Amino acid sequence: MIYFHYHEPVFRPPSEANSLIFQATIGCSHNRCTFCGMYKNKRFQLRPVEEVVREINLVPAAHRASIRRVFLADGDALIYPVAGLTEILLALGEAFPQLTRVSCYASPQSLAGKSSEDLAQLRDHKLRLLYFGLESGDPITLEAVNKGYTAQAMLGQCRKARQAGLKLSVTAILGLAGKQRSRQHAQATARWVTELSPEYFSLLTLFSRHNDDFLRGIVPLTQGEMLEEIREMLGHLRPERTILRSNHVSNLLQLAGSYPKDRQRLKNEVDEALTYARQDRDWYDALPGYAESL
Ligand SMILES: C[S@@+](CC[C@H](N)C(=O)[O-])C[C@H]1O[C@@H](n2cnc3c(N)ncnc32)[C@H](O)[C@@H]1O
Ligand code: SF4
Repeated sequence: MIYFHYHEPVFRPPSEANSLIFQATIGCSHNRCTFCGMYKNKRFQLRPVEEVVREINLVPAAHRASIRRVFLADGDALIYPVAGLTEILLALGEAFPQLTRVSCYASPQSLAGKSSEDLAQLRDHKLRLLYFGLESGDPITLEAVNKGYTAQAMLGQCRKARQAGLKLSVTAILGLAGKQRSRQHAQATARWVTELSPEYFSLLTLFSRHNDDFLRGIVPLTQGEMLEEIREMLGHLRPERTILRSNHVSNLLQLAGSYPKDRQRLKNEVDEALTYARQDRDWYDALPGYAESL
């Protein structure tokens, strides 16, 4: 039975696989990061509150008690004005009595537009987790990809969110700086994550999707060099209390562990993968093959 239609494509983090998704916005309010083609075919718009609430109320009563988690799409639903977002969260709470958590993507632009009080209010209405794309801690890489904010400014935004009681899942992209700045990208990203110590840190690997110009502008890392970049990153990564995951389909090596407990084990796993990779030059020298179909 279909209750409503999504504006395709819809993206969600791997860890939201069991969440019910509602689109509060269509597309991304920034949509200018040069590596990111995820919303290039959508014109950004806020959906009217009434439309979103109508969809929430379309979920049949028989299913409502099984909904524990909701993910608000699209690219940075946190951009939604706080009054409207609060109405959506209230409607979710009323419709789903077992709701434990609402989450969404949060670009730096969307976080910058919310005060600590706004964020605390949203948290009180069950917005509990923000997925935040740092992409790189390296200032030169960030400027080159047009993220729109410096690493330092993003650190301030993320601290504000955590002080308001929100959990953060920070993502970075392996290979984003190409060969040119691989080492700086790895080290600066690790330092940034160490300083914030977010609840979650996830790695993705640069893939192709509506971003040909960007890909032409870098010297891409081979599969083996991607592993070297992870090794460099994990060598400098020392957060106080963070869960590391590399479970996105783009990744060559799946990693999962908690810092500080698993730091050495995670480094060993990368070393072991590298030992095998260095013995298979064809694999090491090949470019990663994952690309998103359009
Ligand atoms: C759907 S986007 C939303 C993120 C949010 N708008 C932000 O800026 O924080 C989720 C993440 O996908 C990743 N991503 C986007 N394009 C990518 C690409 N071509 N290769 C690898 N990861 C990519 C980035 O890490 C991005 O933060
Ligand atoms: S990475 Fe996030 S902010 Fe940048 S264009 Fe993609 S969705 Fe928008």
